[in-house]
Amino acid sequence: MSETLMPPGIELPGDPEIAGLRALAERLAVTAGTLVREGRPANVEVAATKSTGTDPVTEMDRASEELMRRILAEERPHDAILGEEGDDTPGTSGLTWVLDPIDGTVNYLYGIAGWSVSVAVVAGPPDPALWTIVAGAVHSVPDDRTWSAGRGQGATRDGEPIRISRPASLGECLVGTGFGYDADRRASQAVVLTQVLPQVRDIRRLGSAAIDLCLLAQGSLDLVYERGLNPWDMAAGALVATEAGAALTGLRGMPATSEMLVAGAAEFVAPLAEILEAADADQG
Ligand code: IPD
Repeated sequence: MSETLMPPGIELPGDPEIAGLRALAERLAVTAGTLVREGRPANVEVAATKSTGTDPVTEMDRASEELMRRILAEERPHDAILGEEGDDTPGTSGLTWVLDPIDGTVNYLYGIAGWSVSVAVVAGPPDPALWTIVAGAVHSVPDDRTWSAGRGQGATRDGEPIRISRPASLGECLVGTGFGYDADRRASQAVVLTQVLPQVRDIRRLGSAAIDLCLLAQGSLDLVYERGLNPWDMAAGALVATEAGAALTGLRGMPATSEMLVAGAAEFVAPLAEILEAADADQG
């Protein structure tokens, strides 16, 4: 269960409301995921690109986010929305929905299983350094699995409680990671990988950071690290992982943010963070 301290001045919903927000996060992720699966054309076209020419947006990314925004406008009109594809919607409740309409868009584009819809609701500023994640759900659409968590209420996959793994040593840890879209960033990440790879069991680059964090939560990965994640890539998965027993951190005493996220059992997060610090993995 989460033991995050509350920043002063932020009021958290009570347990029954957290349970309701979690159920809504699940419903949003599954409803949008169904739309995206059923609407997937035989050949998915890139509708636009974002940070670089290889950072794609498809029509279904937009449709998925629009559907979730419509439901939220009806059911939670006072909450703010931060979505990957749309403009920020302000709110008055102190809660913000953080939406990733397709996490793993490159997998979706290429027809590779390994993409999800990720939905979280956070209290406080929707910034990983400042937020308190209240509830979240990740729906892995191709294999119809749903992970969810409520703050202080544990994490589940398809309704069953999950816990992180406890390998015997860092050398036995299977580590999930990912790479950014920018060529210079990718070059630095490749160098960092040369420092990590010899010290762990192996690496997996699966293509959806939200799913990586949920696989960590259920013990199918032992550690996850990635530089450059956006709030929507990490919000729901971070809560699922935390509620399943994971420690989450950044480097050099910072919290997990887009600078760096390291997650897993605390006894292995610390030595992995040291390796990443020595490799300057938060630079470049
Ligand atoms: C990406 C995925 C990928 C991670 C990238 C993210 P997107 O999100 O989560 O696994 O390595 O850093 O940007 O672009 O598919 O929403």
